[in-house]
Amino acid sequence: GRVAALIPAAGSGTRLGRGPKAYVTVAGRTLLERSVEALRPHVSEVIVALPEGETLPAGVRARAVTGGGTRQDSVRLLLEASDADVVLVHDAARPFLGAGTVRAVLDAARASGAATVALPVADTLVRADGTGWGERVERAGLWAVQTPQAGRRDWLLAAHTRAAREGHAATDDAGLLHWAGHAVTLVPGEATLFKVTTPGDLQLAEALAAMWDA
Ligand code: C5P
Repeated sequence: GRVAALIPAAGSGTRLGRGPKAYVTVAGRTLLERSVEALRPHVSEVIVALPEGETLPAGVRARAVTGGGTRQDSVRLLLEASDADVVLVHDAARPFLGAGTVRAVLDAARASGAATVALPVADTLVRADGTGWGERVERAGLWAVQTPQAGRRDWLLAAHTRAAREGHAATDDAGLLHWAGHAVTLVPGEATLFKVTTPGDLQLAEALAAMWDA
């Protein structure tokens, strides 16, 4: 079946403080261009949700739609703009995406209908009590969920439509598929897939780009 990559990039980038995040450059290329170029070899089309009134940055080879008020709204609009059988949803804010990861999550989605990249947690986890150590949380079996996430478009669209109707908010699409009753396969991700959120993350991204682009 046909595969489309859907990129929600309609956020305002408030925490980074540099305007819409997709337009921020790392080593001379926008976050959006980096994500689009990583996905293009694997899919038949790339569709990007942009902030109202914005256009694609120069050099980004994708189709654009206007996003919504939340990430969830933006993804629903992207799903409605596609007629692919399988969709892959990826945050523009995660620019360091390797081909092996894309292939792995798409293979898992074709096999089971729903999959996400996620990273087994390596650090000790603690629930804070104010600013102090509250209690340790058992780390075994915990994964930090990343993107890309992939699955059958009909399942994801049905989950989004029902969530919008029932006012159910989710932070990601694999979570919505699970909420809708589908088993979601976890595909081991990579540390380079961190989400560029804070100014510190941007410094890390600049340093990583020097290696990644070489
Ligand atoms: O804000 P956060 O980093 O969690 O956003 C994750 C992704 O969702 C970003 O790529 C952002 O551009 C996108 N987003 C969107 N529409 C919104 C809010 C966020 O497409 N209304």
